[in-house]
Amino acid sequence: MFKSIRVSRASKPIVAAGIFSDDLKQKSSSGSTRKKRSEHVETARSRPGFRAEVGEVTIVDSQLVLFGLGSRSDVQHDALRTAGGKLIRALDRTAPKAISIQIEGALPDRISDRTLAGRALAEGIGLANWRVDFFDGSATQHEKPNAALTLDSDDSSFKSGLKDGLELADSANYARELACTPPNICNPTWMVTQARKLARETGLKCTVIDFKKAQQLGMGGIVNVGKASASKPCLIILEHKPQKIAAKAKKQKIAIVGKTITYDTGGYSLKISGGMKGMKNDKNGGMATIGAMRAIARRKVPVHVVGLLPCAENMVNGEAYRPDDIIEMYNKVTVEVTNTDAEGRLVLADALAYACDKLKPTAIFDTATLTGGVVVALGKWSAGVWSNDDPLFDRLQKASDATGEKIWRMPLWKEHKDFMRAKHADLWNSAPARDGHPIQGAAFLSFFVDDETPWAHIDIAGTSATDSDTDLHVSGPTGYGVRLLTEAVESWTR
Ligand code: BES
Ligand code: ZN
Ligand code: ZN
Repeated sequence: MFKSIRVSRASKPIVAAGIFSDDLKQKSSSGSTRKKRSEHVETARSRPGFRAEVGEVTIVDSQLVLFGLGSRSDVQHDALRTAGGKLIRALDRTAPKAISIQIEGALPDRISDRTLAGRALAEGIGLANWRVDFFDGSATQHEKPNAALTLDSDDSSFKSGLKDGLELADSANYARELACTPPNICNPTWMVTQARKLARETGLKCTVIDFKKAQQLGMGGIVNVGKASASKPCLIILEHKPQKIAAKAKKQKIAIVGKTITYDTGGYSLKISGGMKGMKNDKNGGMATIGAMRAIARRKVPVHVVGLLPCAENMVNGEAYRPDDIIEMYNKVTVEVTNTDAEGRLVLADALAYACDKLKPTAIFDTATLTGGVVVALGKWSAGVWSNDDPLFDRLQKASDATGEKIWRMPLWKEHKDFMRAKHADLWNSAPARDGHPIQGAAFLSFFVDDETPWAHIDIAGTSATDSDTDLHVSGPTGYGVRLLTEAVESWTR
């Protein structure tokens, strides 16, 4: 792991050259401009076993490393991300101080934008150069991190993309660091401290609706879910209101709401049989939100955006809410609590209703580790998305394609909504039957968003953390959603 990575002019860099697998099969092209490229391709040909498939890396000597990009016709931004991740892990062992990155030959049409290509590669580099070592104590043999690394490129567009990519990965890594902070440290009070610190550092405006105020405002969801914890629940609001607004973002106000359950025991509907372990990750919707707000502020994105983090710890004590309680939410909708473990939708509901009422947003995203059901349906490969607005979903799909943070749209019909209507209150928080489990969460939330406000609900229970190491992520939180949401917001500037 490198201590830090930045983009700058590099002296005596190691050259990292990207090679397409097709080029190894063809005879090298003639012409002086391609001379250097051919040299690298020739070297690549002479490396035993190197086929230039995505993620392959071969260290030639102290001056040159070659990395595979796969076939020209297949290469996508995802391939560049993987290549960046594999490259940095291979270089970790040789620990250079600087790398000059060359992408051999013209990139294929679909990634003709060299800035985006540089961005994807650097996202991979930044995400893969991250570890969970914050809690290593005296019994751990510390591996000394490598010195700081400088990235460089002769191509100015590609180089500016490298900067973008590192910046975005840095905000995803910020979200990951918060996410893996354990519940004996990270509780709602601690989250407030972190949000205030971020606001000071980035110029975001931070407002906190504390427990007392939430009670006064009638936020029955946030209050009831969080009241059994020694660290009382709250709603954190982070606002990015730049002076300069992009032409296409005039009159736009985007709200992003993130489920921030710092720990989910299930409450009286207690999680059993190992289901509780790992529930520190139940705040990752909020971490995606705060990470995206950080990236948006640091990149000075000319769009008005407000991030809302309903924070609570779902615990058990004599004051805890219980199954059978009937509670009233911020928008006066009544809810019969059928399961205290379906708590995320209760805190989100108040934040969504509050956002619609007070902020009048022109679009709302919410992101949440809401249901185990979405993991069953879509696995760890994609988040589930529900939306009441096709153009907003299309915008999110484009952001997903650009960032590689995959989404899959699920249905939300009147039948689903009616399924959430209870006998003795307006709604129940979980229907007695498990039919369409992740859809029930979305259907419940729909009662707290104005019909005319474009809204997309993103269930990240499967994507926000990984049990095993992948090309880009060590096991632990992935930072999923930070890049997706930032890109979705930035799309209003184009
Ligand atoms: N935090 C969980 C969802 C979850 C499960 C996230 C697994 C990540 C991994 C959520 O609060 C929950 O407990 N959901 C229940 C809902 C049910 C009680 C209606 C679920 O999904 O089973
Ligand atoms: Zn739960
Ligand atoms: Zn939960």
